[in-house]
Amino acid sequence: MSKFVMIIFGASGDLTKRKLMPALYSLYKDNRLPEGFAILGIGRTEYADETYRDYILNELEHFVTPAEVGMKEFCTHLHYLSLDPAKEEGYAMLDQHLQEITGEKEPDNLLFYLATPPSLYGVIPLHLKTAGLNREHTRIIVEKPFGYNLKSAQELNKIYASVFEEHQIYRIDHFLGKETAQNILAFRFANGIFEPLWNRNYIDYVEVTAVENLGIEQRGGFYDGTGALRDMVQNHLIQLVALTAMEPPAVFTADNFRNEVVKVYDSLKPLTEEDLNEHIVRGQYTASGSKKGYREEKNVPADSRTETYIAMKIGIDNWRWSGVPFYIRTGKQMPTKVTEIVVHFRETPHQMFHCHGGHCPRANKLILRLQPNEGIVLKFGMKVPGPGFDVKQVMMDFSYDQLGGQATGDAYARLIEDCIQGDPTLFTRSDAVEASWRFFDPVLRYWSEYPDAPLYGYPVGTWGPLESEAMMHEHGADWTNPCKNLTNTDQYCEL
Ligand code: BG6
Repeated sequence: MSKFVMIIFGASGDLTKRKLMPALYSLYKDNRLPEGFAILGIGRTEYADETYRDYILNELEHFVTPAEVGMKEFCTHLHYLSLDPAKEEGYAMLDQHLQEITGEKEPDNLLFYLATPPSLYGVIPLHLKTAGLNREHTRIIVEKPFGYNLKSAQELNKIYASVFEEHQIYRIDHFLGKETAQNILAFRFANGIFEPLWNRNYIDYVEVTAVENLGIEQRGGFYDGTGALRDMVQNHLIQLVALTAMEPPAVFTADNFRNEVVKVYDSLKPLTEEDLNEHIVRGQYTASGSKKGYREEKNVPADSRTETYIAMKIGIDNWRWSGVPFYIRTGKQMPTKVTEIVVHFRETPHQMFHCHGGHCPRANKLILRLQPNEGIVLKFGMKVPGPGFDVKQVMMDFSYDQLGGQATGDAYARLIEDCIQGDPTLFTRSDAVEASWRFFDPVLRYWSEYPDAPLYGYPVGTWGPLESEAMMHEHGADWTNPCKNLTNTDQYCEL
């Protein structure tokens, strides 16, 4: 086998320093990178190998805490080539460079990682092909969003299919690399007690939340042309819906698993005019106290109508889920960072006990918390000790910390390692990416046809526009909002 080289396009960018290098370093320190590996960074910024190593070492010291040994040695595996990935002429130089690094005439154990702005996703593979770098054992990882809408995703898929075989293409969605996302499958399919209840007969509705307490940071240029729907919903959130809603694959293989994901996407109930008007709430954060509003952020136009928050009610039209609404939401600058799925079971048919403190909990809730404080909480009613028959909700909770070991791991490390080993299970297949866009495309079209469609402001640090509460009230419910400073799984404000 030829020497393994990972080539990162966008090597001087944010993703590389925050996520990719720390992930590669963690694989390195656990001896999980191929023997004699090399990493070649590509970007327009000028660096010599040595200055690039210094730059990454510095960033690693910043992003890997507490600092660990071996970072300097890790950096000796780094190389850098300055070129403009949009221009074809640089690729012969890239080939030349790869030959020098590997000492081989035609190195083919190559992994290209596209951590660039999405506008380059279509250009780079074509240039790789022209330079003859799409060799047999080569793989390519492409960041999300894969496409800007259905049409552009289809076009991208065509380009990739003309350069690589599908098994060489790894569309990454780092949520699937999260230990706790994978655990949804284990929770559902390695236990007998929940699955019989996991359907329309026992589940009333489901919430999927992935919110953050940060703004767009330095990413105004990217974010303003993207928005929350493309950045979070079309990929991360809908993946979580798929994990929650999918059927168990008979055998757990990449294809079987990915077939089930596509089946969920294909079953998403097409959005009607009414849904577009009433079951989608988009918002944008506004200034509060010393915190800037979205329109004051760097590289964001003062009249931007890009959404930084979106809440939607969606349905899945199949035997298991017909009639069960899935409420999904994501937002920047919310009170806290949390990703979780809340499954609300149906109420008991009859209330025969007194309610503790006037609050009558009749429905069980199961919370699958992906981050932070990864864990699972089941809520159920218990008699309050003492005279009478007052019932109160209590919680049974499991925290991943209890499992010991590397409880949460790193999503990027897991996915990069899977790709190196040729396992595509946790990556998005071409048909899945298109099926997802097919569902969300009408929303994007609606917003572009009706630019004045409501975009609600919400002050930084709040739970989003009030209109999204109203959407939930239609179902006689409220969003499950965890408390502001989550320190353990049992902090739920509405208790
Ligand atoms: C990225 C989005 O894919 O996911 C970001 O582009 C977002 O906007 C991030 O902040 C959230 O990921 P995580 O793992 O921090 O929840």
